[in-house]
Amino acid sequence: MRMYDLIMKKRNGGSLNREEIDYFIRGYVSGEIPDYQVSALMMAIYFQGMTKEETLQLTLAMAHSGDMLDLSGIRGIKVDKHSTGGVGDKTSLALTPMVAACGIPVAKMSGRGLGHTGGTIDKLESFPGFTTGLSEERFIRNVNEIGIAIMGQTADLAPADKKLYALRDVTATVDNMSLIASSIMSKKLAAGADAIVLDVKTGSGAFMKEEKDAVALAEEMVEIGRQAGRNTIAVVSDMDQPLGYAVGNALEVKEAIDTLCGRGPEDFLELCLTLGSCMLIAGGKAEDPKQARKLLQGVIEDGSALRKFAQFVEAQGGDAAAVYHPGLLPKASIVRPVLSPRDGYIAHIACDEVGTASLLLGGGRQTKESEIDLSVGLVLQAKVGDYVHAGEPLAILHANDESKEREARKRFLDAYHFSRGPVDKPKLIKGIMM
Ligand code: URA
Repeated sequence: MRMYDLIMKKRNGGSLNREEIDYFIRGYVSGEIPDYQVSALMMAIYFQGMTKEETLQLTLAMAHSGDMLDLSGIRGIKVDKHSTGGVGDKTSLALTPMVAACGIPVAKMSGRGLGHTGGTIDKLESFPGFTTGLSEERFIRNVNEIGIAIMGQTADLAPADKKLYALRDVTATVDNMSLIASSIMSKKLAAGADAIVLDVKTGSGAFMKEEKDAVALAEEMVEIGRQAGRNTIAVVSDMDQPLGYAVGNALEVKEAIDTLCGRGPEDFLELCLTLGSCMLIAGGKAEDPKQARKLLQGVIEDGSALRKFAQFVEAQGGDAAAVYHPGLLPKASIVRPVLSPRDGYIAHIACDEVGTASLLLGGGRQTKESEIDLSVGLVLQAKVGDYVHAGEPLAILHANDESKEREARKRFLDAYHFSRGPVDKPKLIKGIMM
């Protein structure tokens, strides 16, 4: 078999069979097939697409390109959760302790920030000492002992995805449905959970800008999960404006803690309750969404979700005092409002641009090697449908550098669009597929 022939076949609109897909994944991971040939194949896939069968075979080949985690040492139905990525998406921080406090073992693999979107691992590192570099043994022990553990993608877990993702990131081949579906599902299958709940984002802050594309991606991933024998549920949710108010690592941790204390933003809480209900039902702890929501609200009201979060932070080496005293989290030196230039209703927020404003402040990576500043970001004061007067704050910027603050401020202001007439608030949950 020759890689050249595979590239040409796909370039001409043909379908790759299982042997061909296995050949290219094996050859790429071992280093025998070079980046430039795989880049050409990725671009051919980007333009020609893949059939459902090809996407399934690609996912399975990627999942089996390294170790498959064996979670059989964890008691109960293990449920994993994954978001396709968004701005202000701190869902895993609040949701995983809520679900764990309800008795579902959460064995989760998370990632770092990507492009304009944030990542759970970066956010958790706001707790001094916190690590996601757990051995498989410690990961399993933590889930058995406290009900929750989060680890990063190791070099041995779906290495094909690790290599392909880095390549797609620099060859403009990220936003293709088959490539996203196989990337996410290969990691989830390799990470070993029995059930998978996916949060598929749509809107200006998501990789899938159009709702119909997000729905198709959700359906494709649910089907892959089903074929691989994992109970998979996908929620399609709005990412046409940031989730909640806080964008930026430590600021988002604080908002997640506020939510666990019962004073979180309405949209963020709603998403946690929706995804959490899916996790509780998949994990056999609730019969229906009504019962599940009651359980989830209960663990916020009685403080057990917050205590679970503190236990989890401590078990992974972090300073849990900051869970009860968020003032201990990293703080920026410049805290300044961005004022509205006019009266009006907020008609639209270019959500990816808000993510980029946070990145410009230092909250995300400009290159793979960049160190991130955990303290910076912004806290929105007005979202779509809200009315503001000129001179009222649209957001509070948290910065450590005057020139970055100026650049981010401009980017942020350009992201806001106003209307004279009232504007409907966007619908948060667009659909649930199972
Ligand atoms: N998240 C992933 O893990 N992979 C993608 O391709 C896109 C988002």
